[in-house]
Amino acid sequence: MSDTITTQRKGSGTMFDGIAPRYDLLNKLMSFGMDRRWRRHLIDSLGDIAGRTVLDVATGTGDVAIAIAQRCAQARVVGLDPSSGMLAVGACKLEAAALDDRVTLVAGDAQELPFDDDAFAASCIAFGIRNVPDRSRALREMARVTQGGGRVVVLELGEPASGPISALARLHVHHVVPMLGAWLSNDEAYRYLQASIAAFPPPKEFAALMDAAGLDVVAIKPLAWGAANLFVSDGR
Ligand SMILES: C[S@@+](CC[C@H](N)C(=O)[O-])C[C@H]1O[C@@H](n2cnc3c(N)ncnc32)[C@H](O)[C@@H]1O
Repeated sequence: MSDTITTQRKGSGTMFDGIAPRYDLLNKLMSFGMDRRWRRHLIDSLGDIAGRTVLDVATGTGDVAIAIAQRCAQARVVGLDPSSGMLAVGACKLEAAALDDRVTLVAGDAQELPFDDDAFAASCIAFGIRNVPDRSRALREMARVTQGGGRVVVLELGEPASGPISALARLHVHHVVPMLGAWLSNDEAYRYLQASIAAFPPPKEFAALMDAAGLDVVAIKPLAWGAANLFVSDGR
């Protein structure tokens, strides 16, 4: 890994090491269990992956990688993440689900993927791109390792749109999430979560970043009034 990539900042693998044992529970509580449904939308957007290999960047504890392998019996998945703590939790889940023969976990950074050009039929990143310091570089890397025409899909939390119903979603992101986070985990990590959601570019701006990285965005799907957004690219 290049030494231009820092690992000690907020949002880094090191920060996630500290919350890894409680990450899955926190995720469910904070998204009211909607995270599973959002990941399913992501998997549906990957195109035809039967018999092929998919890359899941920022795999964390492996939920997306596991869901892909369960959904598509012939697919193989490589999950990459810099946090050894998150990967260790993921490895236990893979073993329990008897999927360790089709899902491989690899330590690494999105900004410098340790894979050959065109190594994967499709690639994705769920709730991870927000944490990557150089997002353009990570998106270019995903484009590079994905075969031409293969899907590159990004799922990311967002700032809910304005309006009376979405006010509830905003209340949740700005008040409930940090409170739950401080209570169940480490205060700083979850203050970071809220701040990083607020700082993430609006959907059209992020889609433009994907386009500039050489990815052709064909759909932006808001989920739960924009509390999350799915960006689907037809690759390069
Ligand atoms: C919120 S978790 C998402 C995990 C998983 N994708 C999910 O759906 O639950 C964010 C993950 O991003 C990882 N991460 C942080 N910086 C990264 C980087 N530069 N490259 C790849 N992953 C990174 C963290 O270690 C963490 O596991």
